[in-house]
Amino acid sequence: MPKVSIIGAGMTGATTAHWLAERELADLVLVDVLEGMPQGKALDMFEAMPIIGKDVDIVGSNSYEATKGSDIIVITAGLPRKPGMSRDDLLTANAGIVGKATTETLKYSPDAIYVVLTNPLDTMAYLAMKVGNIPANRIIGQAGILDSARMRAFVAMETGVSVENINCYVLGGHGDEMVPLTQHSNIAGIPLRDYLPADRLEAILNRTRKGGGEIVNLLKTGSAFYAPSAAIAQMVEAILKDKHLIVPCAAYMQGEYGLKDMFFGVPVQLGRNGIERIVEYKLDADEQSAFDKSAASVKETIEALKNLVKLS
Ligand code: 2OP
Repeated sequence: MPKVSIIGAGMTGATTAHWLAERELADLVLVDVLEGMPQGKALDMFEAMPIIGKDVDIVGSNSYEATKGSDIIVITAGLPRKPGMSRDDLLTANAGIVGKATTETLKYSPDAIYVVLTNPLDTMAYLAMKVGNIPANRIIGQAGILDSARMRAFVAMETGVSVENINCYVLGGHGDEMVPLTQHSNIAGIPLRDYLPADRLEAILNRTRKGGGEIVNLLKTGSAFYAPSAAIAQMVEAILKDKHLIVPCAAYMQGEYGLKDMFFGVPVQLGRNGIERIVEYKLDADEQSAFDKSAASVKETIEALKNLVKLS
């Protein structure tokens, strides 16, 4: 059985374990600094396995040693947003946490594939890559599946069509400047632009860009976790099953879309070695300018990170 370790056993980490256990994909380890918390959640979840009939080990620990030999490390540890905060406001608090989670887990699983979810997402993935000297194919940030799923959900609510028929792609940085694409998004093959009146479409795009904030404002004490963790589970499954699945994720840019030395949300093909390739869409002029704006905003946060932490 492959092994997946999840660093941060809060709402997102624990719910990731839950989705993964249901799929019987891998043995699971939950790591958190809080004493007893990952152990308690792991034991509780394992006690559910006889009921759902899944044979996976689920272990909780306060020590990174428990992650030894992981195929995939998922990093969700860090503070979530409170109402009124942007994801970038979390930079200082979360940089130390993600840096440590990366270096500590690498000691025990030098060949693991890393999936990073901690915000500000694109910058945290960049930090983990640089701190751990991880090859570009083996480190992937998650936001695009989530942002696209939000758009798909809103389109389903608007049209009453099955969520399965709705394909949407949100690219760019995981912030308010993210780029929902309308020429590549469709309902059963019909471009969204042709299906929905322009004002309804615009309302959906706006709601998508602010989708994370909408949940933060409702919950008041934390951020979204069901959809973010479902997105991680889809990535983990695609990797472990070597599916060659194309999904939007944050990837390290090496000239694709004209971008370099940063993480950015783009369609990637996922298989057993992580990112197999980055797919380049043709963008129209409006999309390109939205892309540029989003890239500038991610670069700004990376610069802020470089002022905080010395990176090679
Ligand atoms: C979100 O968009 C937490 O950033 C995550 O909900």
